[in-house]
Amino acid sequence: MCGIVGIVGKNARDIILNGLTNLEYRGYDSAGIYLNDLKGKEYLTKAVGRIKDLKEKMTPDEQGLVGIGHTRWATHGKPTVENAHPQFDETNRFYLVHNGVIENYRELKEKYLADVNFKSETDTEVIVQLISKIVRSEKLDTFTAFKKTLGLIKGSYAILLVDNTNPAHIFIAKNKSPLMLGLGDGFNVIASDALSVLDQTKTFVDLQDGEVGDITKDSYTIETLAGKKVTPKPYTLDIDPKVASKGTYEFYMLKEIEEQPAVIRRIAQKYLDKDGQPLVEPQIIDAISQADRIYIFAAGTSYHAGLVGKALFEEYTGIPTEVGYASEAGYHFPMMSKRPFMIFLSQSGETADSRVVLQQATKMHVPTLTITNVMGSTLSREADYTMLLDAGPEIAVASTKAYTAQIALQAVLAKALGEKIGSQKAKDFNLRKDLALAAEGIQEIVDGKEKLEKIAKKYLVKSRNAFYIGRGIDYAVALEAALKLKEVSYIQTEGFAAAELKHGTISLIEKGTPVIALINDPVTADLTRGNVEEVESRGANVVTIVSKKLAKKGDDIVLPNINYYLSPLLTVIPTQLLGYYASKDKGLDVDKPRNLAKSVTVE
Ligand code: F6R
Repeated sequence: MCGIVGIVGKNARDIILNGLTNLEYRGYDSAGIYLNDLKGKEYLTKAVGRIKDLKEKMTPDEQGLVGIGHTRWATHGKPTVENAHPQFDETNRFYLVHNGVIENYRELKEKYLADVNFKSETDTEVIVQLISKIVRSEKLDTFTAFKKTLGLIKGSYAILLVDNTNPAHIFIAKNKSPLMLGLGDGFNVIASDALSVLDQTKTFVDLQDGEVGDITKDSYTIETLAGKKVTPKPYTLDIDPKVASKGTYEFYMLKEIEEQPAVIRRIAQKYLDKDGQPLVEPQIIDAISQADRIYIFAAGTSYHAGLVGKALFEEYTGIPTEVGYASEAGYHFPMMSKRPFMIFLSQSGETADSRVVLQQATKMHVPTLTITNVMGSTLSREADYTMLLDAGPEIAVASTKAYTAQIALQAVLAKALGEKIGSQKAKDFNLRKDLALAAEGIQEIVDGKEKLEKIAKKYLVKSRNAFYIGRGIDYAVALEAALKLKEVSYIQTEGFAAAELKHGTISLIEKGTPVIALINDPVTADLTRGNVEEVESRGANVVTIVSKKLAKKGDDIVLPNINYYLSPLLTVIPTQLLGYYASKDKGLDVDKPRNLAKSVTVE
């Protein structure tokens, strides 16, 4: 969602604009920057639209040695210049950027700021006006007034604050929104995502919830809101900045789709030994093996990966597994079995909906595991255990490689757990071979991508709506396939259990409606083909995606054979490519679909 970059001690303009550009993938609708040259000149520029619109509004003399920048994804108030950050106070002394949501901003406004003339509709302006008011009325220094203000605020925040009467400092605070400090030689940089500033430093310090900091070019102090000093240990983030660049690809989404064979191989290498035995922390396996039921919580694509996880856990461990939308479970907590174990699937590790469930689980002493792509992310820090996807940075808003990585890692876990509790099926599960087949199979599908571009052009690009149908595990993939197509191409798409169409939805099928059938389940393949005939006879343009052993003459995409429980690793690839090409051929910004954000840090 929103992005933050701030720096003290170095040419702030370029570093901030570059950092914000690196964060563009997270989704935003306006941007802004405040610069101070430490010699009495300061500049504030804000723009609706993209970073390039912001750059166009800036004059060459706008430079600074201290600066804060922000990309905003509107929550309170429309995307306008006034609502963009940095927000400032009525005396034009304090400049502030904020990620998150202040829940009690209306009360604070009424109680403390009734006489202030607000310029924006944002919750953020309340923070900066309040700091200013407290400094003036209580004659406090800025850092103390900042902490006092934070004590009054309820909600989530990552904040950077500059006081232009003392501009060599950036004051920072974090609660429930990510914020990290990057340490440099003669400068320090602060960002909501390390990826944005990897070209400046690889040494980082994470702030924890409820911590505040005072950052200068060669010092930093961090303390809790109660004033207790903390000394977090710096760590090195060993990511090659190039991994996060598009290289020769037009869009990250295609790059990330094509990275999937490498991701699957990496997971096999990291999580299986040379004999194919799972390498999972024994404590994790011990903890799950005590459970009488596994509960998986996630959102969006990760939820869809959880549906495949359910099939894997039930097949290879025999432990009943339930999958839920975190956003639903947060406030209607499911009835638990006697010995539950909870797994949180989250690419970003920051999804607020999942965090609500995790916190509730922790209160109830339910053991928890986060499977995430981001080391040190909030969900990984707060769960009892973490397993890393190691899929590399996923930049395109539409998730692709994280989905397949989540499935592969759940397969590792299912095998490890099944073996621990004596499941013969788990012992016979040749995961090493199957993951190798999956990596080869994905490569084969990717190599034939032109065919999918043709199908997208012929059937999807001009269509208003579309359907994916499948049964069993193919139904789980149909849901993900539909999400992928609709989110990037804006073609309204539904994923359907194939047989359910005839119970109502088939009335939507008319001449030319695209229906894409996924057929990998030997038990129901003929029945799904029957459903295909039903829609075909009503005029649908049918595309079939079928595993080789079930393929018939005339099928459109034939997938290499693979273990049924891992078939989603292959089936999903053509559907990701169809989404990609439909979006690209419609001339859309594939990596940044409208209204969407990469990590959803509000409930
Ligand atoms: C869709 C997509 C989203 C995310 C969802 C959860 O392509 O990316 O549906 O899967 O917002 O995000 P994470 O996995 O970061 O918790």
